[in-house]
Amino acid sequence: MSVPVIELNSGRAIPQLGFGVYKVEPGDTERVVTDALEVGYRHIDTASMYGNEVGVGAAIAASGIPRDEIFVTTKLLNADHGARSTIEGFERSLEALGLEHVDLYLIHWPCPERGLYVESWLSMEGLFADGRARSIGVSNFLPHHLRAVTDAATVVPAVNQIELHPYYQQREADSFGREQGIVTEAWSPLGRGSLVDDPGVEAIAGANGKTLAQVILRWHIQRGFVVIPKSVRRERMAENLDIFDFELTDAEVGIISALDRGGRLGSHPDEVT
Ligand SMILES: NC(=O)c1ccc[n+]([C@@H]2O[C@H](COP(=O)([O-])OP(=O)(O)OC[C@H]3O[C@@H](n4cnc5c(N)ncnc54)[C@H](OP(=O)(O)O)[C@@H]3O)[C@@H](O)[C@H]2O)c1
Repeated sequence: MSVPVIELNSGRAIPQLGFGVYKVEPGDTERVVTDALEVGYRHIDTASMYGNEVGVGAAIAASGIPRDEIFVTTKLLNADHGARSTIEGFERSLEALGLEHVDLYLIHWPCPERGLYVESWLSMEGLFADGRARSIGVSNFLPHHLRAVTDAATVVPAVNQIELHPYYQQREADSFGREQGIVTEAWSPLGRGSLVDDPGVEAIAGANGKTLAQVILRWHIQRGFVVIPKSVRRERMAENLDIFDFELTDAEVGIISALDRGGRLGSHPDEVT
């Protein structure tokens, strides 16, 4: 079963399920991403902050898969906010990846204390215009950050990548983004591996002959989110990809949607510097 794509406001399409490499050790990254590509992933999510762009690029180069068949996302380092340093940071990422363009470039965190994310965004519009970033977007942006960008911007972000899992569904950021034509991408879609502890969801997994992780990822897909689960284990990579041969009923989607508790696992976007 192939992974569906979602059309972005840039005119490009993003595979709805990708592979995240946060906390994959730099020395393991080439092996892990090689496994992911062999298992069938064609969308890799990295960041300058993860320190493993070199391994991602090495795996892509060694795979022999045509460049236009792999969707690569990377992200601007917080320390590189600002007009000029955004371009310099982007160019360092391209060099580390060994690529001539990325498919999606994101501002990793708004870092409001720095006061430079709008400036960075305006620089990224240049990277979009010259084609080195095929789509541009943001990450960890709350509605007030999105509003500041769209007020100043010519290009509306294609994507907002935010923490999102059944226990933390970010309804406000998601619906605000949707109104602007911004696709919501879920980071930590499996709650950093904590999945869910809920007999209702276990029953859904049993009824569908799927694992808890598969049911949660399928819920993301049916809610229209892009998901980027991470695993260093090949069997889990395959498990997480094997979610396109079944469908949750509306009632099953509703049971998982009702788990929202509003508790984040990661940092508050206004507090990251
Ligand atoms: N933009 C941002 O600020 C931001 C922040 C965080 C993450 N992200 C992106 O989102 C990606 C995913 O988020 P994440 O890595 O934090 O969390 P996640 O994908 O929700 O969970 C990863 C954890 O779940 C475990 N796992 C994976 N598949 C599993 C399965 N089928 N059953 C049970 N456990 C499973 C993994 O362990 P093993 O590896 O041992 O299998 C790992 O500990 C990241 O890699 C990164 O690309 C972005």
